[in-house]
Amino acid sequence: MPVLSVIGTQWGDEGKGKVLDLMAARADLVVRYQGGANAGHTVVVGSEKFVFHLLPSGVLHEDKVNVLASGMVIDPAQLLREVKAFADRGIDLSDRLRLSAAAHVVFPYHKALDTASEGVKGGLRLGTTGRGIGPAYSDKAARTGIRVGDLYHEAFHERLEANVREKNRALQALYDSEPLSFEEIYSEYSEYARQLRPYVTDTYHLMMDALDAGRYVFIEGAQGILLDLDFGTYPFVTSSNASVLGIASGTGLPPKRVGEVFGVAKAYCTRVGEGPFPTEISGKAAEHLATKGHEFGTTTGRPRRCGWFDAVAARFAVQINGVDSLTLMKLDTMSGLSEVKVCTAYEIDGKRTDRFPVGFPSVADATPQFETLPGWGEEIDNVRRFQDLPDAARNYVHFLEDFLRVKIAIVSVGPARDQTIFR
Ligand code: IMP
Repeated sequence: MPVLSVIGTQWGDEGKGKVLDLMAARADLVVRYQGGANAGHTVVVGSEKFVFHLLPSGVLHEDKVNVLASGMVIDPAQLLREVKAFADRGIDLSDRLRLSAAAHVVFPYHKALDTASEGVKGGLRLGTTGRGIGPAYSDKAARTGIRVGDLYHEAFHERLEANVREKNRALQALYDSEPLSFEEIYSEYSEYARQLRPYVTDTYHLMMDALDAGRYVFIEGAQGILLDLDFGTYPFVTSSNASVLGIASGTGLPPKRVGEVFGVAKAYCTRVGEGPFPTEISGKAAEHLATKGHEFGTTTGRPRRCGWFDAVAARFAVQINGVDSLTLMKLDTMSGLSEVKVCTAYEIDGKRTDRFPVGFPSVADATPQFETLPGWGEEIDNVRRFQDLPDAARNYVHFLEDFLRVKIAIVSVGPARDQTIFR
């Protein structure tokens, strides 16, 4: 199919970066459509580890065009840092990176408001990444946002001045924070605009022209369905549609042209930040997953909460995203556990259900019902064929496949490109 999407089926951090990087060889365009520098994709090539927050994972392939589409919120300083990191390695992205003129810009007042509002929320804190994502999308919805293309328009000065004035009022009155300097922001962002100019374009027509010319477009999701603004564990979500649902609005691609959907799931669950997490565990098994899986946030360095695989949530993720096949990541992390558990139902208000509740009843009230399966002691990071996995590991994969009613086409057993089992 000419369009293929890679989507997170949990709370983000599933390993989409590696999957995209593996598949990008077949793509002509790699397109990110939502979120911003809250994301963190890690890709390991040889002995080098690359971490991106904004750049799509296709940047590691020489002949791909990488697109930051209109549904994103762009922190220009962060984007320029990532571009420079490539330039420092002798890699020039000027022909391979395209930034939508209709994407929204993240300003220092967005980050200041993000941090300040989290600071006063007490127990209602969301645990955001502090990258200004919520405030930037709020401005977009309120129609006071400034888009990338606006940076080159004479009205930029006036609109930015009005925004800084208003945000300073909020920062001072609501949060007792220091006001920001309009002049400083204006001159800083005018310089960013100059440096970003070669990349800025109309990415909608770029993508549609590429499809009309028979090219392959890979769509890269950030975060995951359980952080989706509409269908995640609201309000503990991000401010965009971090699922297939955001592709059309975030790129302009007609929904019926969204082709094959690759879901990505970790072999267990993790979550960074606050909010419901029915299968969360503590104790020895949690420590095992956190330590062996290096479960620390790529963007913030915070420890990730760990838990067993939530097959109720995953089945919902498969259904709502129309997942055609699943990639199971980090199976190697589970080696050494004497037993492994899978949540196959929730009990909420005394009732058992295998449906992930949308809105009501609350996921926060769910008690997980587990099936226990045998674990495996053998390390599997050197295994390259499915039949060479220990029986218990294969059994685990088959169990998930049967419950989720979807093919697990790829199993990842380590961060490197070759630590991958194709079935
Ligand atoms: P925000 O997107 O920074 O507003 O954060 C909202 C919630 O989404 C917080 O719980 C974050 O930890 C979480 N979040 C945002 N981006 C990511 C990501 O890329 N991976 C995992 N969690 C994320």
